[in-house]
Amino acid sequence: RFTPRIFSGIQPSGGLTLGNYLGALKRFAALQGSGSETIYCIVDLHAITVWQEPDILRQRIREGAAAFMASGVDPRQSILFNQSQVSAHAELAWLFNTVARVGWMYRMTQFKDKAGKNSENASLGLLAYPALMAADILVYQATAVPVGEDQKQHLELTRDIAAKFNHDYKVEHFPLTEPLIEGVATRVMSLRDGSKKMSKSDPSDASRINLTDDADAIAQKIRKARTDAEPLPGSIEGLKDRPEARNLVNIFAALADQTPDQVLARFEGQGFGAFKPALAEVAVEALSPITRKMSEFMDDPAEIDRILGDGANRADELATPILERTKEIMGL
Ligand code: ADP
Ligand code: NA
Repeated sequence: RFTPRIFSGIQPSGGLTLGNYLGALKRFAALQGSGSETIYCIVDLHAITVWQEPDILRQRIREGAAAFMASGVDPRQSILFNQSQVSAHAELAWLFNTVARVGWMYRMTQFKDKAGKNSENASLGLLAYPALMAADILVYQATAVPVGEDQKQHLELTRDIAAKFNHDYKVEHFPLTEPLIEGVATRVMSLRDGSKKMSKSDPSDASRINLTDDADAIAQKIRKARTDAEPLPGSIEGLKDRPEARNLVNIFAALADQTPDQVLARFEGQGFGAFKPALAEVAVEALSPITRKMSEFMDDPAEIDRILGDGANRADELATPILERTKEIMGL
């Protein structure tokens, strides 16, 4: 009974990585024309839950929009906008702050990771982050959200908020949104440590491939990526206990639109001396057009602002009636 609608977002909190591309952006583009409306957002209100320099943030919001478009998100097929320009997100987040329980928030592993030891000193927004994320999704009554593995717990909390709201007010107002965590790149790992996810916040630049890296930097990072000395097996099963090797094979597969077993069929019995240059070639081939398009979009910031403004108007039209109905249900 809910219109099939896909929502997802990315924070403008730093340079985007291959993890963001394979786990999110590439899939966002692929979901266009799948029969669901697609709504994509640069979530700047999430970014400011940790300190952001205002001028750098302004720049990164535009870079985020450029990355979406360079990855194939078409602002005519999808709604592409910046969260803070559609005030319904923040308003519904407040309503959800009264639905969600404090204990739910303290259980979030991302809060524990980001707040660190001195969690009393974290911003209140960092704790409430998942209620805003629930609002981002449910203000469109979105039915599905493509995300990486790391967002699974937040998506469960979104469903908990929707279910509690529906139960408390005896309505079927919000859908129980499905996470779309699909494909072989839902958790791209660091190139330096197979137990950590690739992240823009990792202090080691060698741990990640940035969407702005040039061909030489990409090739060098892949050459230096941690691996082992064993030859590659004929199927992904054989890499169960070799996280670094498995990560590189999964990256290859995701970039080349193949299965890991198809990749391994080609490299069976060979070592990383043969595999890494081939991976570098595939990575450069996939990423260099994106890097180039991003910089072309960035050459015209006024056009980016125009696209985001248009997207915000369209998002606002969808969100406002749902917010108004929510307030009415609550007696506001
Ligand atoms: P980050 O986690 O890099 O700070 P965001 O929180 O803005 O970035 O996440 C944007 C999207 O990118 C989310 O859907 C997230 O799950 C996905 N993502 C982030 N890092 C990875 C990764 N290493 N592998 C797969 N997906 C990822
Ligand atoms: Na994340």
